[in-house]
Amino acid sequence: MQSKLELRNISKSFGEVQSLRNVNFRVIPGEVVGLLGDNGAGKSTLIKIITGYHQPDTGEIYFDEQKVDHLTVPKARALGVETVYQERALADLQTLWRNIFIGRELTTRLGFLDIKRMRTETEHLMKESMGFTSHAVTPDSIIGTFSGGEKQGVAIVRALHFQAEIIILDEPTMGLALSETNKLLDFVRQVKAAGKSVIFIDHNIFHVYEVADRIVILDRGRVAGEFMRKDISLELLVEKMRRVAKTGSLD
Ligand SMILES: Nc1ncnc2c1ncn2[C@@H]1O[C@H](COP(=O)(O)OP(=O)(O)OP(=O)(O)O)[C@@H](O)[C@H]1O
Ligand SMILES: [Mg+2]
Repeated sequence: MQSKLELRNISKSFGEVQSLRNVNFRVIPGEVVGLLGDNGAGKSTLIKIITGYHQPDTGEIYFDEQKVDHLTVPKARALGVETVYQERALADLQTLWRNIFIGRELTTRLGFLDIKRMRTETEHLMKESMGFTSHAVTPDSIIGTFSGGEKQGVAIVRALHFQAEIIILDEPTMGLALSETNKLLDFVRQVKAAGKSVIFIDHNIFHVYEVADRIVILDRGRVAGEFMRKDISLELLVEKMRRVAKTGSLD
């Protein structure tokens, strides 16, 4: 299958620290890739290269099999990369509909904000994609009253609405209660069902195992292992992670 995104031989150093060494990484459409690894393994650095925030020292980046030179943040965004951050995702004091359309407001032909249409579209998204069933939630609800899982759900739905192709979640379940986490994992499944890709980073191996199609283990800047979820049991994955942490190798 054609890859949506492919990194080839990516290396990145910060002074003396080599954060990534010859990393190969690919994502295909409709795939959830779980990225696992200890603190400092290089997960966030890898993500920042995909989002154009850092330039790699060496290596190549391909989107839809086309090489992209000098990937920048606006370029990555235009190519459909969206990162959903737990804390920074939304404006707490604003309403749901404003948060959906923040920075991409709909306007009338005369150039005024088309509040009516933004509200209606938000209502539609809530019913079709967000699965908000509570009557307490309306397009005019203030985001600050939403739970952590719901906020991320809103950010994910927003990303999908604006044609994101690859949604990146870096530690999305941190600090979430169990029911919240389940809600978030449902959102991830929805993105997949929509044919889009997800890169899911989490310290919690159980959460990763629950949603990922493929699991990549990073260790000290290297890809230490890669598994199709269907080919590995949770017990074996836990065991592999232990071994990697101890010896830096799978065997
Ligand atoms: N901007 C930077 N300047 C200097 N060193 C950096 C920078 N960004 C990352 N590093 C170093 O690169 C290594 C990998 O860091 P990175 O943040 O990618 O790890 P991580 O896998 O995301 O870890 P965590 O699980 O703690 O989030 C670490 O040793 C880190 O200190
Ligand atoms: Mg990190």
